Amino acid sequence: MVVVCWQTYPNPLQDNPAYSVVKQYFVDMDDTVPQKVVVHKDSPRGVHFRRAGPRQKVYFESDEVHACIVTCGGLCPGLNTVIREIVCGLYHMYGVSRILGIDGGYRGFYAKNTVTLTPKVVNDIHKRGGTILGTSRGGHDKSKIVDSIQDRGINQVYIIGGDGTQKGAAVIYEEIRRRGLKVSVVGIPKTIDNDIPVIDKSFGFDTAVEEAQRAINAAHVEAESIENGIGLVKLMGRYSGFIAMYATLASRDVDCCLIPESPFYLEGKGGLYEFIEKRLKENGHMVIVIAEGAGQDLLSENLQPLDQKDASGNKLLQDVGLCISQKIKDHFARQNKMSINLKYIDPTYMIRAIPSNASDNVNCTLLAQSAVHGAMAGFTGHTVGLVNGRHTYIPFHRINEKQNKVVITDRMWARLLSSTNQPSFLDPKDIEQAKKAIEPANGLLDDEQAKKAKEPANGLLDDECPEDK
Ligand code: F6P
Repeated sequence: MVVVCWQTYPNPLQDNPAYSVVKQYFVDMDDTVPQKVVVHKDSPRGVHFRRAGPRQKVYFESDEVHACIVTCGGLCPGLNTVIREIVCGLYHMYGVSRILGIDGGYRGFYAKNTVTLTPKVVNDIHKRGGTILGTSRGGHDKSKIVDSIQDRGINQVYIIGGDGTQKGAAVIYEEIRRRGLKVSVVGIPKTIDNDIPVIDKSFGFDTAVEEAQRAINAAHVEAESIENGIGLVKLMGRYSGFIAMYATLASRDVDCCLIPESPFYLEGKGGLYEFIEKRLKENGHMVIVIAEGAGQDLLSENLQPLDQKDASGNKLLQDVGLCISQKIKDHFARQNKMSINLKYIDPTYMIRAIPSNASDNVNCTLLAQSAVHGAMAGFTGHTVGLVNGRHTYIPFHRINEKQNKVVITDRMWARLLSSTNQPSFLDPKDIEQAKKAIEPANGLLDDEQAKKAKEPANGLLDDECPEDK
């Protein structure tokens, strides 16, 4: 991460009656937050991130700031709240009044008109789903985007989006640096799937889990009301099954949760069909939750040709809910042993399109404020995020290096398996392989990792990172 170093000014918050009485309101420049809080007592210091929050000095004078906000990628509850709070934070905390909304994602920088954003314009938007700015996938033309930033005299860029968007933000930041522009580039991570690494949880995730309960409840009511009823609910989760896992744990009505990280099979001993038969014999009904990216290997190509991608470069998925529903129906019809009644519910886009709930609203508000404080203090090239309960500035490359996934050899998945009593669908060989693929679960670093952790954390607090003790 880089601090844009120009002349500094006193932070206007020091005269704000709301904040001036708060003891130690300003964050010390050297405050950091560790990425790992559970560590062995002898392990090295590890990676730390700069703590987010207002600084004593700012690098922009209020009337010099010309900010812009863009939302990219799929929808997620809370987008409007983040937009609202960036605008209100800039305006009310720092007296910034020149704020532009970029229409329709990255391509809006060069292909569309901008929208003027004021506290009045955004006053009520947090009560609505979607994004008032519109969004799109792709459209990342680095040169055209930075030209547009430069031509419009924008010096703070707030980019709200998922992993592809944050990668794009990193490229924009590099280009801005190469051109030597005094522009802060700040990412706000958005993913309903909760698949962005490092951060505790992404905004909108809680709302999605909560809203998923309505679909699961409906599936349960339907299944319970009829002999051998099966309710099957598809939830979002392209590569990561967090929504499905948490929605299952929250509900307790789910008998089986299927996620992309945990391969499963249908036929034979230990397979899904056998489990369905068993559960129906025991209880007379059951609920299955399936994440959209689960079981893709079991589906035929007839709905969606393989290798088709969306504009963000994500592989287009088959509708696993529809396919698996049909396969289950066909199986039991063929068997002629037990007649089943299966109802399939797909609430995915309904979940994604709602406004954020109260806890996500708070989450979005604090993220937006952290973003504003960081940009005003002259930090750039980072994403704001909650790490171990603290707001931090995370260099783009840390966010972009991998994807957050459910670790099926971790305690959380074990908790789920023991709450549903579903089969793990794993044979001992797979368990061994999965164990090897992950970091040691006991928090101890192996030699290789320990060596790496001692190396200067690249681009991270660089010089400011205190020496290992
Ligand atoms: O942003 C992630 C996500 O919600 C995935 O779970 C899902 O596969 C995808 O977006 C669908 O979005 P769209 O239909 O807009 O491409």
